Amino acid sequence: MSNPSLGRSLSVRAPGGIAPVYERPGHQEFLADVLEGLKKPRKQLAPKYFYDERGACLFEAICELDEYYIPETETAILLENVREMADLLGTSVLLIEYGCGNCAKTRILLDHLDRPVGFVPIDMALEQLQRIAAELGHAYPGLDVLPVCADFTRAFDLPGKKLPDGRTIVFFPGSTLGNFDPLSARDFLNRIADICGPEGALLIGVDLRKDPEVLHRAYNDSEGVTAAFNLNLLLRINSELGADFRLDRFKHYAFFSPGESRVEMHLVSLDEQTVHIVGSAIHFARGESIWTESSYKYTLEGFEKLAASAGFQVERVWTDDRQWFSVQYLVRRRS
Ligand code: AVI
Repeated sequence: MSNPSLGRSLSVRAPGGIAPVYERPGHQEFLADVLEGLKKPRKQLAPKYFYDERGACLFEAICELDEYYIPETETAILLENVREMADLLGTSVLLIEYGCGNCAKTRILLDHLDRPVGFVPIDMALEQLQRIAAELGHAYPGLDVLPVCADFTRAFDLPGKKLPDGRTIVFFPGSTLGNFDPLSARDFLNRIADICGPEGALLIGVDLRKDPEVLHRAYNDSEGVTAAFNLNLLLRINSELGADFRLDRFKHYAFFSPGESRVEMHLVSLDEQTVHIVGSAIHFARGESIWTESSYKYTLEGFEKLAASAGFQVERVWTDDRQWFSVQYLVRRRS
């Protein structure tokens, strides 16, 4: 790993026989990022910090909501087209998944791939990753499962020497790329292009621009699960960093910004108040917000341009009838 001091690392032998690596950002990095973000003139926190154990569970609950159309639509696209996808991905695939969550979509692919040689699930939610890796190891006995707990928004090393040989396919479903700003998205795709190598490919879920009403409902669900997910970030900062955020004094706020083509999520302070985090006092004016997430919604053309800027060529796009979501197969651009 590029910076072993960043996180906790433990090693468990996977059913596939390879020792997995677990590593994630540590306490000091979390504290530094939180203080830096909250001291900015426009307060912000990185969405990667949503996913502690409770945050990962809340995200799973979001994925069960009818209003949050992404998982259902993407799954339907995968189920309908998985044979064609598997043909394109080929035999002896080494599948690497970024932000694997509960791996529900991965199983659709794994069930159809021709003799995959290995699977590298990468996620920051350690407990969930351990559980899922063990489950997959049992469900696919011939498959080497090599989980990596890492912050994939930054560069990190894959355990290269231990990876089985095969065609490298990076799977990045769920439109998680939408949570990167355009420059970071390009840099991230560049890193993926390096990992894929000249013969590999990327299979990616990309959420599409649509009626703002649909987006509004998806990020302001009627059961308040998204609000709880957003507010959980403050709870996490309280419990892990000893801060004194009063959760009832902040409100979830999400809206679609057409100019930027993104949904923004914020936590808005309901009062003028001061929050303390390890000796730092953070002042909030009434109505001031912490910007916690952006979720970019692409047009097909816009995404094609972004992919091209990172050296990828879009070879195949699958969408649903409403054109709400897309799964795209990208290969390295031949110069
Ligand atoms: C993980 N990511 C793609 C989700 C999204 O839609 O941006 C996270 C999320 N935020 C609120 N609801 C879901």
